[in-house]
Amino acid sequence: MSILVTGGAGFIGSHTVVELLNAGYDVVVVDNLCNSSEKSLERVKEITGKEAKFYQVDILDREGLEEVFAKETIDCCIHFAGLKAVGESVQKPWEYYNNNITGTLVLVDVMRKHGVKNIVFSSSATVYGTPKTVPLTEDCPKGEATNPYGWTKSMLEQILTDIQKADPAWNVILLRYFNPIGAHKSGKIGENPNGIPNNLMPYITQVAVGKLKCLGVFGNDYPTHDGTGVRDYIHVVDLAEGHVKAVQKMAENPGLKIYNLGTGIGYSVLDIVKNFEEATGVEIPYEIKERRAGDVAVNYADATKAREELGWAAKNGIKEMCEDSWRWQSQNPNGFEA
Ligand code: NAD
Ligand code: WQD
Repeated sequence: MSILVTGGAGFIGSHTVVELLNAGYDVVVVDNLCNSSEKSLERVKEITGKEAKFYQVDILDREGLEEVFAKETIDCCIHFAGLKAVGESVQKPWEYYNNNITGTLVLVDVMRKHGVKNIVFSSSATVYGTPKTVPLTEDCPKGEATNPYGWTKSMLEQILTDIQKADPAWNVILLRYFNPIGAHKSGKIGENPNGIPNNLMPYITQVAVGKLKCLGVFGNDYPTHDGTGVRDYIHVVDLAEGHVKAVQKMAENPGLKIYNLGTGIGYSVLDIVKNFEEATGVEIPYEIKERRAGDVAVNYADATKAREELGWAAKNGIKEMCEDSWRWQSQNPNGFEA
């Protein structure tokens, strides 16, 4: 069985390609490399001893995508390609709506023209908006997104839902990720943000490796056990395995499905700092700053549905997440650049 992975050179995509190759799938990657390096796929080959076919194609480029579908036999698409920086999306809403929404519309159109009607889509816990209660189940109502990036995820969920409703031959799985961190155990692939990281774990690892001086903790007056924001951090390899399960179960479980991929455990910012220090022995200096606009106090998953229907559960705890994030960063202080 052959899987098209859009955005397969990126952080979650490259880890998913490893798990797909290890599980015996043929993999075709489409990525325009706007936020990644082809080197990640060379590392995937080092890890697995197998190769994914790579096409440097933009999903907005209909002709380029058509060529890939004409050349390759594709059974299913895992669709990661998208822009994901929350703050940047506020500055560049057109670019985010165009890339993420138009890109997906082009992809889906090319898929159906070639008779490929199986898609796993990277959604996000951001679609829940400000949670009224936690843990969040898939039945919790979607909320107001606080930025254009979040709206693209929410709108794309709706678009794919409507497409499946209109044509039940489509199988659509919407995976709502919580906060992916960690890296492959080999230390060969990991998260490689451009510029100063927006997300907590890459900021911490860059402080640890000496590229940044001090972590800013965004607010210590939230209604949480220590006042700092609580999130459901999930190891990227567990997340990647969730995609393999989704593809495997699609045939048994056809139609439209929505799953949270999280651990069900919430950690505060200061819990993460403490766990990182314990796991690595590296001290992380921090200072308390103002709250960051758009942040919610607490966000964590109820991941029961994925366990019951996909037979998937996260295996790695916070210690492994910290150790593996650090192994990647310390072995590759400049990411994929030498
Ligand atoms: P990433 O930026 O590392 O990977 C996305 C990949 O898509 C990159 O390799 C980029 O070059 C590619 N891409 C972007 N636009 C493209 C286009 N028009 N054509 C072809 N390729 C394109 O990000 P990631 O963290 O691996 O995220 C993967 C997916 O998961 C994204 O859709 C993201 O929104 C979603 N997601 C991520 C998180 C997170 O915290 N990392 C959480 C929830 C959802
Ligand atoms: C985690 C916690 C911050 C950085 C984002 C997106 C979401 C999803 C995952 C894609 C919060 C605090 C952070 C820092 C800090 N992405 N923090 N200092 O905001 O939960 O989710 O990534 O879909 O859509 O919004 O993740 O890692 O940015 O923040 O104190 O330098 O760490 O305030 O409490 P977030 P994050």
